[in-house]
Amino acid sequence: MKNQRLDKIIASQTSLSRKQVASFIKKGELTVDGEVVLSPDAKADPEKSEIIFHGELLDYRKHVYIMMNKPKGVLSASTDKNKKTVVDLVPDELKRDGLFPAGRLDKDTTGFLLLTDDGEFAHKILSPKNHVVKTYRAKIEKPISSSDIKTLEKGITLKDGTSFKECEINTLSDDKTEIEIKICEGKYHQIKRMLAFVNNQVIGLERVSMGNLTIDKVLKEGECRLISEEERKLISDFDE
Ligand code: URA
Repeated sequence: MKNQRLDKIIASQTSLSRKQVASFIKKGELTVDGEVVLSPDAKADPEKSEIIFHGELLDYRKHVYIMMNKPKGVLSASTDKNKKTVVDLVPDELKRDGLFPAGRLDKDTTGFLLLTDDGEFAHKILSPKNHVVKTYRAKIEKPISSSDIKTLEKGITLKDGTSFKECEINTLSDDKTEIEIKICEGKYHQIKRMLAFVNNQVIGLERVSMGNLTIDKVLKEGECRLISEEERKLISDFDE
């Protein structure tokens, strides 16, 4: 990592603007390797230097990856004029510029949503050609038959020409109204439209996993936490 301006480094790791950061720096709120630095345009390498801002050691991360248990009624978007968004739910200490949900869950869908400021990673996990499996649990109106499962598993094309690729479906309840569906795509209302194709209806939908990473059960709806590098690789390790 190259040397960067200190105001830029701090602003990139917090929800503060560069102007706000600069005024804190001028007041003596920042040290680099133990030395107070008063000029916001002084430079340092955030991966090599020990930077303390506001009395706290900067845990520098080029990008953040946040696991959220999305609640019902909240939009999968960064901002909205009237409605609450998933980014609004992120606590200040995890917030940073450019945070967005990597893929959308419908307003009434709950469960695992990944928020990040890493556009490249988001693009890779969402692209169907990379085969990152997203696992959902759905409560459906009527029992699903084995022939409906076979139809959907093979892949379908709707009347409007939209097609959904192969998927995997398992029943979770004896009455066959609770199912697990694994898909590699993320098309608009995909699971709802798949079930509608076999004359059924989704009445509750939760995403439980992305790749091999499953939602942390300690997260209540609306809560989130950072995910580690190891966990991020469980979603997908594109370097391998
Ligand atoms: N499929 C849907 O229908 N809705 C979601 O939110 C996700 C997948």
